[in-house]
Amino acid sequence: MKLTWWSHSCWLIETGPHRLVIDPFLSGNPKAPLAADEVACDYLLITHGHGDHLGDAVSIAKRTGATIVANYEVATYCGQQGATVHPMHIGGGHDFPFGRVKLTIAHHGSGLEQDGQMLYLGNPAGLLVTAEGKTVYHAGDTGLFLDMQLIGQSAPIDTALLPIGDNFTMGIDDAVQAVGFLNPRLALPMHYDTFEIIAADPDQFVTQVAAAGGHAQKIMIGESVEI
Ligand code: NI
Ligand code: MN
Repeated sequence: MKLTWWSHSCWLIETGPHRLVIDPFLSGNPKAPLAADEVACDYLLITHGHGDHLGDAVSIAKRTGATIVANYEVATYCGQQGATVHPMHIGGGHDFPFGRVKLTIAHHGSGLEQDGQMLYLGNPAGLLVTAEGKTVYHAGDTGLFLDMQLIGQSAPIDTALLPIGDNFTMGIDDAVQAVGFLNPRLALPMHYDTFEIIAADPDQFVTQVAAAGGHAQKIMIGESVEI
């Protein structure tokens, strides 16, 4: 399985013939390494309704025919705009042709600002993606929570994708603690430096995780890791 970081919380997962994109925030993202109309994928996994996660999901889905997998409210919203969707909800898993997706809790919001109104798009989620015998945990946007221990116990996590940018999500200290709760083979930082308000030092995260007995690695935008 190959993971490629497309900045912020956006990841491409390549597994077998399948291409999954998580949280495709590309338009309006100053760090995006590609444009939304360059994305080819067959599934889009969305953690929550905030614009920096839902992003270009609907336009990519409509152009490529990719299925949007998200909580019921986000999926319904995308379906109303003509996208093919697969609604799920927290605690539920489903076997897709590429593998299994389970939605986990995240402590955050999920509203989408539209025409001066705040649209309710359900509860935010994290994602457990299992394929080729590997499990990737994408935390979405969240604060630290002790139930991450349960997520780490449910299956050995090969790679945990964790926000470190503070302000809207965990900062570095809490993300280091999250690594301790989840016990992944590898932790990769995300959701930092996209905007000044979430500036963070990934090297500090890597150093602190190592000092706590874990393993984290900084990944560059556009870079891939095989897990
Ligand atoms: Ni958010
Ligand atoms: Mn966010």
